[in-house]
Amino acid sequence: MSKKKYNVGIIGYGWAATAHIDAINASSQAQVTAIYSSRPLDSATLSAKHGGKIKAYDTVEALLADPEIHVVDITSYPSQHCAQAVAAAKAKKHIILEKPMANSMPEVIQIFEAAEKNGVKGCVCFECRFSSQMEATKAVIDQGLIGDIHYGEVDYYHGIGPWYGQYRWNIGKKDGGSALLTAGCHALDALLMCMPGEVDSVTSFSTKSKSEYFTPYEYDTSAVTILKFKNGAVGKCAAIVDCLQPYYFHTHLVGSHGSVLDNKFHSAKLKTNKTQWSGLSMKMLDSGDVSDHPYQAQFQAFFDALDKGQDMPLTSFRDALRTFKVIFAADQSAANGGQPVKVA
Ligand SMILES: NC(=O)c1ccc[n+]([C@@H]2O[C@H](COP(=O)([O-])OP(=O)(O)OC[C@H]3O[C@@H](n4cnc5c(N)ncnc54)[C@H](O)[C@@H]3O)[C@@H](O)[C@H]2O)c1
Repeated sequence: MSKKKYNVGIIGYGWAATAHIDAINASSQAQVTAIYSSRPLDSATLSAKHGGKIKAYDTVEALLADPEIHVVDITSYPSQHCAQAVAAAKAKKHIILEKPMANSMPEVIQIFEAAEKNGVKGCVCFECRFSSQMEATKAVIDQGLIGDIHYGEVDYYHGIGPWYGQYRWNIGKKDGGSALLTAGCHALDALLMCMPGEVDSVTSFSTKSKSEYFTPYEYDTSAVTILKFKNGAVGKCAAIVDCLQPYYFHTHLVGSHGSVLDNKFHSAKLKTNKTQWSGLSMKMLDSGDVSDHPYQAQFQAFFDALDKGQDMPLTSFRDALRTFKVIFAADQSAANGGQPVKVA
């Protein structure tokens, strides 16, 4: 591999990391040159497996002290994200950060402020924004084909049971957090991408499946949130991690001139037939598998923005902060039995 501009150090060598490494190495400007894991790793084995020259570190501090590393990619357990991201910012490394940014709002703000203070840029892995489905859906909206959206729902249905690798830590409150934080955050983030107005308040209810697969979860694994936007629009996001069905990222956006339903649409502007849906041919978000996720497009956009010294489009720390404010307000509402919570 020829030498590229940005050296990336990975923190945490689990499932997400494997997809990240391929996506980073496939970018025009970056390559993975270091990996930290709590398990002992061998530099030669890592280099042979992933290509290039990769140094294994056994402490985060040593990796962050490496002056050759420009970007740190955090793929560790969610409860470790805040301390590691703040340390990376202090070490003046740009940051790729897996979702959730952290499991509390004060921690998310701490990460945001540390990056601002130290002049480093961030990329939060809300990579669905770079998916074919969301890019095409957003283009339909931006072309005005469905007019002004007054109602939208984006929902996440994906059963994360014992058959799924993340289950071992996802069942705990400490790392899983909530149905919205651990997985539904992708759907809520996509809804906010499609409905860009400010959210005034949220109301959320949560519950739990009676299936024994989900009994070990320390938190409610189904949650539904109603969002009231300042412009009067209404949104809805269901985060369901205890379902027994195929993965489904449900998208229904209703506007003054038409609607989008998943890969179908009607547009009065285009004078399409209102009694039949028209088709949108695009790659759907239909899998939780990280190898299917559009990390490559997202990381390319991040490195392109670094080249220009700018915040990246769509998934900067600032963009993600907006989403996490809504998520934590929703979880607070659910914890209070559905009391509406103002989004600060
Ligand atoms: N954006 C997405 O769609 C997406 C998808 C998957 C994961 N993630 C996120 O990525 C982060 C990591 O998730 P993951 O699925 O890679 O989890 P994982 O369980 O595979 O790895 C998580 C952490 O555990 C460590 N680890 C794994 N097995 C270990 C072992 N046997 N002993 C010691 N440490 C071990 C890994 O190095 C890593 O730091 C989480 O924040 C998760 O939410 C995001």
